[in-house]
Amino acid sequence: MICPKVSWGCLLLLLCFAWMGDAEYMKYKDPKQPVNTRIKDLIRRMTLAEKIGQMTQIERSVASADVMKKYFIGSILSGGGSVPAPQATPAIWVNMVNEFQKGALSTRLGIPMIYGIDAVHGNNNVYNATIFPHNVGLGATRDPDLVKRIGDATALEVRATGIPYTFAPCIAVCRDPRWGRCYESYSEDHKIVQEMTDIIIGLQGEIPENHTKGVPYIAGKDKVVACAKHFVGDGGTHNGVNENNTIVDEHGLLGIHMPPYYDSIIKGVATVMVSYSSLNGAKMHANHDLVTGYLKSKLHFRGFVISDWLGIDRITSPPGANYTYSVQAGINAGIDMVMVPYNYTEYIDDATSLVNKHIISMSRIDDAVSRILRVKFTMGLFENPLADLSFADQLGKKEHRELAREAVRKSLVLLKNGNTPNQQFLPLPKKARRILVAGSHASNLGYQCGGWSIQWMGGSGDITAGTTVLDAIKSTVGDTPVVYSENPDNSFMKTNDFSFAIVVVGETPYAETVGDDTDLTILDPGPDTIRTVCSTVKCAVVIISGRPVVIEPYLPLMEALVAAWLPGTEGQGVADVLFGDYGFTGKLSRTWFKSVDQLPMNVGDPHYDPLFPFGFGLTINSSQPGFSGADSPRDKTKITVYAVLSLLLSMILTFDGHRYI
Ligand code: BGC
Ligand code: BGC
Repeated sequence: MICPKVSWGCLLLLLCFAWMGDAEYMKYKDPKQPVNTRIKDLIRRMTLAEKIGQMTQIERSVASADVMKKYFIGSILSGGGSVPAPQATPAIWVNMVNEFQKGALSTRLGIPMIYGIDAVHGNNNVYNATIFPHNVGLGATRDPDLVKRIGDATALEVRATGIPYTFAPCIAVCRDPRWGRCYESYSEDHKIVQEMTDIIIGLQGEIPENHTKGVPYIAGKDKVVACAKHFVGDGGTHNGVNENNTIVDEHGLLGIHMPPYYDSIIKGVATVMVSYSSLNGAKMHANHDLVTGYLKSKLHFRGFVISDWLGIDRITSPPGANYTYSVQAGINAGIDMVMVPYNYTEYIDDATSLVNKHIISMSRIDDAVSRILRVKFTMGLFENPLADLSFADQLGKKEHRELAREAVRKSLVLLKNGNTPNQQFLPLPKKARRILVAGSHASNLGYQCGGWSIQWMGGSGDITAGTTVLDAIKSTVGDTPVVYSENPDNSFMKTNDFSFAIVVVGETPYAETVGDDTDLTILDPGPDTIRTVCSTVKCAVVIISGRPVVIEPYLPLMEALVAAWLPGTEGQGVADVLFGDYGFTGKLSRTWFKSVDQLPMNVGDPHYDPLFPFGFGLTINSSQPGFSGADSPRDKTKITVYAVLSLLLSMILTFDGHRYI
C-alpha cells in the first residue's frame, strides 16, 4: 500500500486492520457451535505446552495467577483442609478462585481453569457450610431422592465459594469395615450404591432424554461437575487395607465393584477418579485395560479421567522412585488430568519430553485434552469463567440444614429397643424428672462430623457452626433438666436421681489410611461409660461411627441401641427421633459383625453370622406413649386441621336440625 504522507485516512486504515486482526472469529469461543466443533478448533490452535498445561492439576497452595499463566495450568484443587484463610467467607473463596482464573484467562488462548474440591458430605472444607451425614449413613436411609436433594444443596454450597467441581461421589462398595474409608461408601451392597448415584443428578442436573450415553452433562451455573471415584475396586482391598490390592475375578469385579460406574455414566457423570489401589496386583493408575479399554471404550465414557493425589507417583514403590515412568504409565493407561499436586514443573517436563520422544503419542495427548475441554465447554466455563457472590447466601442456609437434619433422622438405625418386644424403651418421654447425657461424643461437633470436615482428618469440638447431640436434646425436652457428664463415676450416678440416660460414644474422626483399623473398638472410656451409666439407670446408647464397631459385649447392659453413623452438623435429627417426633426408618447398609475375627463378612457370604444382619433396623410400635405414627409433625397438624374443618362443616350443614346437603 502506498502511503506518501501519514494522512488521517491511512491511520484509519491501519487501525481497521488491527481491529480486524483482534476480532478474528474464534470458533471455539462461540457457544452456538457444537461442543465437538469447538474442541477441534481449539485443539488445532494449541501448542504442546498448552496441551500439557490442561492436563495438569495443582494444589492451591502452590498456585498463583503467574503460575497459571506461565504453565497454562488447566486445573487447581483444594486438598483436604486447604482453605484460603481459616474460617474464610464466601467472598474470600470467590476472590481467590477468580484471581487464579484471571491468570488462566490472560493466556494466549484464554482457556479457563477448573477448580475442584472434595465436597463429599456437603462443602465440608468450608467454614459454616452444611455438613451432611457421610455416605454410610445415607445408605441406611435407602432414599435416593433424599440423596439427590443433598446433591442439589451441595452444588449450591460449592458454587457459593466460586467453585464448579467436586470430587464426589465416592461410589466404592466397601466390603470390609476395617477399611479407613468405609464411611465414604454407601453400602457393602452394590445395588444400594447404584441407587445412590442419584446424587450425581443433584450435583450436575437432570440429564435430558435422548442424551448420548457416556457424554458428560452439567445443567448450568447452579450445578457442579461431579467425579465418580475411585475407579475401580477401592472398596475391595484385601483385609480392608487402604490403597492396597483387590483380589477379585472378573465376575466379582463386574458384579460388585463396577456396577455403580454403569449408573454414574448413564447419569452423565463428567469425571472419574482412578483408585490408588491395585487390582490383582496391578496398580489401577497404570491399568490401560480398565481405564482405556473398559471405561472409555466399552462404557463409552466421554468425560475426563483424573488421577488421585500423587496417584501416579504411587505407581512405583517407593512412591516417586521413577517419576518419568509414572507419567508415562499413567498417561498411557488413559489418565487425562494428573492431580500432581505440588511438583508441577517435574510433571510438565517429564510429560513434554515423553511426547517429544514419542513414548506418549500426540493422539493420546489430544484425546486427554479433548475430554478436559469437553467438560469445560459443556459446563459453560468459557462463557462464565469468573464467579460472583450470587450464590454466597447458599452456604449453610436454613433449608440445607433442614435437609441435613432430615437425612440424619432417616439415617439412624435402631438396633435394640427394650429387652423384650413388649417393653420398648424408645421413644423417650420429653417430660421427665432429670435426664443424664453422657459419653465422649455427646457434646463434640467435630466428632459427629467425622473425617473430611474442615480438616482432612476432621477435628474435635466446635470446628464449625452446627448443633451437637447434647444441644439437640436440650432444645427438644424444653424445661426438663438435662445433666451432662462426659464420663460419670459410680458415686455421681448414685447421688443423682436420673429418670434415664442417653450415652453417646463412638469413633474419633479419621480419613483414608489413618482410619484403617483391625480392632474396631469405640474410643475409651466409652465402654466404661456404658458400663457405669447403664448399670445404674436405664439407658439408650447412641453410636457415632463410620462403620459397625465392637458392641456385642455391652449389648445386655443397655435398653436401646442406635447407630447414628457420622451425622454431620445437624445433630437435631438425632433428638428428633430419640424423642419420637419422627419414627425410626433406617436399615443397615452394612452387616454388623459380632467380632472382628469374622471379617470380612458381607451379606450372602457362606459364613454369615452377624450380630445384626444387613438390612436390619427396628421400627417403633406406633402405640407407644409419646410416639405418634404420623410421618411428621406437619402431618399431625394437617390431620387436626382437617378434623376441625370437617366438624365445622358438618355443624354448618346440619344447622337448625336439617341437613342441607
Ligand atoms: C491432602 C488431602 C489428600 C491427602 C492424600 C493431604 O495432605 O490434604 O487432600 O487427600 O493428602 O495423601
Ligand atoms: C483422596 C481422594 C481425594 C483427593 C483430593 C486423595 O487422597 O484419595 O479421594 O479426592 O485426595 O483431596
